Amino acid sequence: MKVAIASDHGGLTIRKEIISLLEEMKISYIDLGCESDTSVDYPDFAFLVAEKVAKGDASRGILICGTGIGMSIAANKVKGIRCALVHDTFSAKATREHNDSNILAMGERVIGIGLARDIVKIWIETSFKGGRHENRLNKIKRCELNGDLSKKESE
Ligand code: RB5
Repeated sequence: MKVAIASDHGGLTIRKEIISLLEEMKISYIDLGCESDTSVDYPDFAFLVAEKVAKGDASRGILICGTGIGMSIAANKVKGIRCALVHDTFSAKATREHNDSNILAMGERVIGIGLARDIVKIWIETSFKGGRHENRLNKIKRCELNGDLSKKESE
């Protein structure tokens, strides 16, 4: 697994901590900034990570901003991205099992580092369950690819 990670100025501290966690977990990562606490625009960093994941240069992505909301909205505009905004461990597990989320977004002004570490660990270690969830993801993919909003099941 390779993780692409980025934050804006509002997520800098937790990003550094999560990078240490990835090192502890021996997971390879690409750190895409930001460099300092100077104010930057979160979409620029969301798109850097989303592009790496969408192109397959990274298998997963992690994005941190003040709330996680801006990062998740921006990342989800990129084709192939399923970015989940998560601030609890139950959702971290569920979004991997049910949504096969490929990017995790968190807000540094919302949760502390202890919970952020637990969320990342669970999110990294949990697999997609497939089965009935696959058909639901296919509906999202069809909408993304050709605007198909129909209820039809997969062929
Ligand atoms: C930056 O002030 C803040 O707007 C950003 O980190 C994030 O919370 C946006 O959703």
